[in-house]
Amino acid sequence: MAPQAKIIVVGATGLLGSQIVSGLLDRGEAVRALVRPGLTGEKKDAISALQARGLEVVEGDITDPVDRLAERLDGIETVISAVQGGPETIEDGQVNLLRAAEKAGATRFIPSDFAIDIFKLDIGDNFMIDMRKRAAQRFEGTSLKVISVLNGAFLEVMTTFMQIVDWEKNTFSHWGDPDQPQDLTTVKDTAAYTVAAALDASLPAGPLRFAGDVVSMRQFHAAVERATGRKLEFKTLGTADELRAEIERRAAKTENPFEYVALQYQWGMVNGKAKFDTLDNARYPEVKPTSTEEFVRATAPSA
Ligand SMILES: NC(=O)c1ccc[n+]([C@@H]2O[C@H](COP(=O)([O-])OP(=O)(O)OC[C@H]3O[C@@H](n4cnc5c(N)ncnc54)[C@H](OP(=O)(O)O)[C@@H]3O)[C@@H](O)[C@H]2O)c1
Repeated sequence: MAPQAKIIVVGATGLLGSQIVSGLLDRGEAVRALVRPGLTGEKKDAISALQARGLEVVEGDITDPVDRLAERLDGIETVISAVQGGPETIEDGQVNLLRAAEKAGATRFIPSDFAIDIFKLDIGDNFMIDMRKRAAQRFEGTSLKVISVLNGAFLEVMTTFMQIVDWEKNTFSHWGDPDQPQDLTTVKDTAAYTVAAALDASLPAGPLRFAGDVVSMRQFHAAVERATGRKLEFKTLGTADELRAEIERRAAKTENPFEYVALQYQWGMVNGKAKFDTLDNARYPEVKPTSTEEFVRATAPSA
């Protein structure tokens, strides 16, 4: 008989959650995933591949009634949430999941934070982080240990979603002080740190902060040039205050905050407001994170 899973991952069909499941299986852990019903296509194939490696799958949605959700968490000690979505998911959904975890007798909850320092930003600075801050406030008073894993920005989003590097125009465009250090971590390394935290029984409640690399925009640019052998024009788009004004201009023109959220993340990074003051990397020396240059070498188009 398969060992009883003590860890459940919610969001196992996602970018980060799938890597967390994979990392736990690599460490020989019995893992359960809560997966929404009706999986098809690539997501179904990916979950089947994880099942072949021993993943136990239960169907459910974090917005399900607490009693039903608690049944899916039977025997679970640690709940890892890697969900993504709007307030119905990140705030109400995760609070619902926490209530179900309490009911099921779980002891630890890792919410879907995985960001720059959400505890240093203010409400209004970044609409996606606002949701996580509001959820964190609603977790207060729980009997579970709530452990936030913070990783800075995924290196993957720095070279895509943030629109810093334009491979066609050969430009590298940044806002703010080019020498402000920034915390960057790959998805895989974030998953590895999350796995290490999930398996660390002596961990107290509270945030953990990890960075695979800490580099300024000037150093990032140099790493991209070294890794690719390409020359990219280094363009400064404006100060951090000018970036804030640009965000406000865009926000006034749209109801859709996804149109400017990449800039909100950059604002929190380039002015240092959401920079980690300390790192917890040394707690898990077995995780050997990827540097910016290694990451770019492995993923970017070469000259
Ligand atoms: N620091 C950074 O630079 C950075 C960048 C990107 C993401 N992140 C963070 O990483 C975390 C995971 O993001 P991701 O990009 O991996 O997300 P993703 O690929 O969009 O996956 C989201 C997962 O959540 C699941 N989900 C959504 N609503 C659910 C619900 N009601 N019940 C159960 N499952 C639900 C999805 O299931 P379905 O397959 O059924 O939809 C999917 O498995 C988030 O906290 C995100 O903000 C950080």
